[in-house]
Amino acid sequence: MPKKSPQTELSKLRQLIDYHRRRYHEDDAPEISDEAYDSLVRQLRSLEGSTDDSEGSLTTEVGGTVSEAFAKVTHTVRQWSLGNVFTPSELRDWEARLYRHLESEDVTEAQLTYVVEHKLDGLKIVLEYIDGVLVRAATRGDGVTGEDVTHTARTIDDIPDRLAHKVDITCVGEVMLSKAEFERVNLEREKAEQPLFANPRNAAAGSLRQLDPKVARSRKLSATMYDVDVFGPQDSGLSVPESQWGELQLLKQLGFVTNAHNKKAKDIAAVLDFYEIWKVKHDELQYGVDGVVIKVDAIDLQRKLGFTAKSPRYGTAFKFPAEQATSVVEAIDLQVGRTGVITPVAHLTPVLIDGSTVSRATLHNEDQIKRLDVRVGDTVILQKAGDIIPEIVEVLLPLRPAKTKPYRFPKRVEGCGGDGSIERVPGEAAYRCVTLDSDFLRRQKLYYFVSKTALNIDGVGPRIIDLLLDTGLITHHYDLFTLEVGDLKDLPGFKEKAAQNVIDAITAARTVPLQRLLIGLSIEHVGEETARLIAEHTGSLQKIQEARIEELSQIHGVGQVVAESLVLWMQDSTHKKELAQLLRHIEVTAPKKVSQKGSLSRKTMVFTGTLNTLTRDEAKALARQAGAEVASSVSKKTDYVVAGADPGSKAERAEELGVAIINEEQFRKLLGS
Ligand code: IVH
Repeated sequence: MPKKSPQTELSKLRQLIDYHRRRYHEDDAPEISDEAYDSLVRQLRSLEGSTDDSEGSLTTEVGGTVSEAFAKVTHTVRQWSLGNVFTPSELRDWEARLYRHLESEDVTEAQLTYVVEHKLDGLKIVLEYIDGVLVRAATRGDGVTGEDVTHTARTIDDIPDRLAHKVDITCVGEVMLSKAEFERVNLEREKAEQPLFANPRNAAAGSLRQLDPKVARSRKLSATMYDVDVFGPQDSGLSVPESQWGELQLLKQLGFVTNAHNKKAKDIAAVLDFYEIWKVKHDELQYGVDGVVIKVDAIDLQRKLGFTAKSPRYGTAFKFPAEQATSVVEAIDLQVGRTGVITPVAHLTPVLIDGSTVSRATLHNEDQIKRLDVRVGDTVILQKAGDIIPEIVEVLLPLRPAKTKPYRFPKRVEGCGGDGSIERVPGEAAYRCVTLDSDFLRRQKLYYFVSKTALNIDGVGPRIIDLLLDTGLITHHYDLFTLEVGDLKDLPGFKEKAAQNVIDAITAARTVPLQRLLIGLSIEHVGEETARLIAEHTGSLQKIQEARIEELSQIHGVGQVVAESLVLWMQDSTHKKELAQLLRHIEVTAPKKVSQKGSLSRKTMVFTGTLNTLTRDEAKALARQAGAEVASSVSKKTDYVVAGADPGSKAERAEELGVAIINEEQFRKLLGS
């Protein structure tokens, strides 16, 4: 891996983070996701080796800087940002730190309880009221100085001009745009050929940070308040809240909007419950919520806990699992699959993404590597969601170390047969071993042959296959079926019983459904789904052995590439011999297919025009029940076109191709017969 001096690495990373911070906070036009941004900050922190409590470089900075376009407002209370945690264990660590800190403050009996809130994904606003009258609204800015946005804040319905009581208060909340309003605004901008907002947060920020209040008024901004910075009750009879929960109640009493989902949590377990619920449900909300915020409820304890260089200790944000993260490519490796196809894989510095740690991402093929220009040493944005395997979506070029080279496929790869040479498959993006009969590939194929997906020989896995190959007991798949208990029972780790079990499992696998056999042969491009389709459509191994490419590629869902690969495989003389050997030991069963019973089994039909007694959908359903496949367009593989009144171009096409055209009556006869 190219060497980077830690100093340049740090400064490059800081610069890049700073750039993206400005794109987000100042220009309201981010270029990377919040998740990727968070991940870069985490990378920086881990490089700095700093903990939550240490003075970091940019990590001590809060948010954006202040635009010259607005009057400046110096906040009476510094506007901090919150720290983040990403996993339940980080949350528990956070709590443990609180207890430790309180102990050092000589608070030994404290029992911490919390308030949990949504982490609203909008723009922070600080409102100042004197005698119950709004005097100023400001953005957070750099935390010390914000921008005066009183003129636009006044256009927001949720921000009262006058409060229910004549009090002095400075309070904090979030200005947001609902998802629906965001869509509407963007549609409007699209029509006006203006640049679109990246997300509701930017749209809210872009609307609030306007010189002309008309723009803000035309967009339905909301404001949800969650914090009281300064409170002077005057003669209102109200008292100064002693808890975060009390602050939320006070805000409501004064006429502000608070979040209806705010909740008290008696311990960390209750916090986790709240988190788990909203982790799943937050997408249903009208507003963007990217995590939950946890705050120590008691204000006196909040004070004792105080602040780190960057944020208050008494609260933290627990982010929902990120689907994007950044990491560093430590190596690019080539994996040889059992069919000899070579897949490049990036080895990454382990990183948490979508709730689990990953250290690898597929690069698919050479074209993908070229498109992304991924190089060893690069910092990349990774993406993963649900069951999808992690993928590299972008290289962060500003972080590329000096003297990297574009990745080039080597000429030879360990694991391929012969001298290890590889070649690019003509017409495809994939590389493949030139010589496919290597020991490595033979092993891989055998592992697969016995696996659950293929012949499912219970209890026989890679370890036993290795043992059988290494002792010379087998060299081919068909040898498995000639084994006897006596061959196995003296192998290392075997006893009579285990040997018998293996033999029983092999015996049980002598009857093989056609599709499983196809899968087990490790034919390139023939995966589970295509094997099933081919087995169902052909019905026998013999048909497959005799099939021509054109016939197989007619099968719906089986393309030219699969058909070609299968036919060439079947024609190969070595494969022919090996398959013949195998067939002496196994019985291949035809796939059970319900539709085979139907009168229209394996016929492809197309419907066109208006039928007399049936709707189009009813007719299609009847055809399918009888085993037919219903297609939407006419081709050579169409067996019948059922034409009603005003048939149109499909009937013409059928005529051109010489496909049988039948009417409704004839169709009914076919069904009945
Ligand atoms: S409390 C001292 N509560 O998240 C911390 N912040 O870094 C005061 N945010 O910029 C903030 N929802 O704009 C708090 N329920 C919530 C929040 C919240 C969203 C934002 C806030 C701040 C950032 C925290």
